[in-house]
Amino acid sequence: MVEELKHTIYNCNIVHLPKVHNRAGNITALENNITVPFEVKRVYYLYDIPGGEDRGGHSHKELQQFIIAVSGAFDVVLDDGINKKVVYLDRPYIGLHIVSGIWRELLNFSSGSVCLVLASQKYDEKDYFRSKKLYLKWKLSRYL
Ligand code: TYD
Repeated sequence: MVEELKHTIYNCNIVHLPKVHNRAGNITALENNITVPFEVKRVYYLYDIPGGEDRGGHSHKELQQFIIAVSGAFDVVLDDGINKKVVYLDRPYIGLHIVSGIWRELLNFSSGSVCLVLASQKYDEKDYFRSKKLYLKWKLSRYL
């Protein structure tokens, strides 16, 4: 069975990132395969998110992501078709590793928040499940 079918929300971890701080502010550095548990191929960020908007209603077949609330706060809902949990991100030194094959939604963005995403693959629309119904059909096929 392919890995992404086996992944559950319990494979998604919160990572406490190193913080260098002094009176003039803080620095957090991210490194491939050290602080970020994969090789980063793409970085993007969500910003100017209107109040009340939801994002990220999809799953990736192979892509892994590492998400940080570099400013502000939001909720990440993780769902593997059986289990569901909400992770609240509100610190620039906390990362959430989302493994492949997990349905996610990003909700309740605070005003002015910025969501930084490190991704393990280049953008590829074919890697997405955008239909929850099709995702569940694929994901739950492991039980058939
Ligand atoms: P999507 O991944 O659905 O964003 P979110 O989960 O935050 O709602 O992408 C939204 C749109 O942006 C979609 O049309 C694809 C495009 N896009 C790119 O062109 N390149 C990228 O790297 C990403 C992440 C999205």
